[in-house]
Amino acid sequence: MKTLVIRVDPENRKWWKDTLQKLLPNLKVVLWDEDEYKVEEVEYAVVWNPPVGGFKKFTNLKCVVSVGAGVDHILKDPDYPKNVPIIRTVGKPLRKRMAEYVLPHVSRYQLRLPEIRKAQEERKLIQYVEPLADEINVGVMGMGNLGGYLARKLRVFGYNVFSWSRTPKKVKGIASYAGKEQLSHFLSKVKILVCILPQTSLTENILNEQTFEMMPDGSYLINVGRGETIVEKDLIDALDHGKLAGATLDVFREEPLPKEHPFWKIPEILITCHTAGFIDPGLGGKIIAENLKKFIQGGKVKDIVDIEQGY
Ligand code: GLV
Repeated sequence: MKTLVIRVDPENRKWWKDTLQKLLPNLKVVLWDEDEYKVEEVEYAVVWNPPVGGFKKFTNLKCVVSVGAGVDHILKDPDYPKNVPIIRTVGKPLRKRMAEYVLPHVSRYQLRLPEIRKAQEERKLIQYVEPLADEINVGVMGMGNLGGYLARKLRVFGYNVFSWSRTPKKVKGIASYAGKEQLSHFLSKVKILVCILPQTSLTENILNEQTFEMMPDGSYLINVGRGETIVEKDLIDALDHGKLAGATLDVFREEPLPKEHPFWKIPEILITCHTAGFIDPGLGGKIIAENLKKFIQGGKVKDIVDIEQGY
C-alpha cells in the first residue's frame, strides 16, 4: 500500500500520525523510526530535520513535505535526491502565528520594557516616556510569505516599516531595499530589526560585526529566521559594546540551544525555543494533507520549493 512516512520531533510524532492518517485515509501513514513498513512502498515523507543520508533507502519516493517554511533542514543532506520535489508548509494560520509572536516583542522594545524591568529590580520608579509606534523604524529582513505578512501587520500597528530582500518588493507604505548594495542603507534606518530570512548560501552569517555596525547605536534584533544568519560571537560583542541594546532569539545554530551556550547568561538576550513559526498538526495538518492530495492527483502545488535557490 502507498505509504507516507513521518519523521518529526518525538513529542508530537503520534499526534502527526493520527492527524495525517485521518486526513489521508488512502495512504498508510507510519513513523519513520518506530513502525514496520516496506521501504519500497514509501512514496511520501513528511519531515522536520530528517537524518542525513536517510532518504537513500526510499527508492520510490515521489515527494517530501517540509514541516516548516524553511527547507534547510532537508537540503543540508548532500545525498538528498534532487529529483524528488519538496513542498514547504506555509499558510494563513502559520503566518499569523509568526506575526503574533513578533508583534509583542517589537512592542516590548517600543515600550522599553527591558529597561523598566531593570529599574524595578533596583526598586526605581521611573516614568519612562514611551515613543509612539510611528516614531519607531522597524526593519524586516526577508519578505517572503511570512515576512511580507508580518511587515504589513507591523504597518497596521503604525510602525515605520522598511524591508530588505533579495529582490525589491512593492508593498504599499513600506520602503523596499534589496540586495547587498542596499543593505547598509536599510540597516542604518532601523531601530528594531526583525530577521526572518531563510538559510541559504547568501544569508549565512549576514548579521555580523560589519552589518551590526551599520545599525544605529542601541538598536534591537529579533531573529525568527535561522540561527545561521548570525555570527554569534559578533552578536555578543555588539551587545557588550551597546551597539545593540537587546536581542530576542527564537532560532539557533544548534537546537535545542546547548545548556552551556553563552547566550543563556546574557541579560539583554531573551531566548525562546523555535516557537515563532512552530507548526503543530492542529495548525499544519490540513495544509499538508491538502497539498499532498493535490500533488497525488497531479494538480499544481504552489508551495513547491526551488531546490537550487534553497527556498
Ligand atoms: C520553521 O522554522 C519553519 O521553517 O517554518
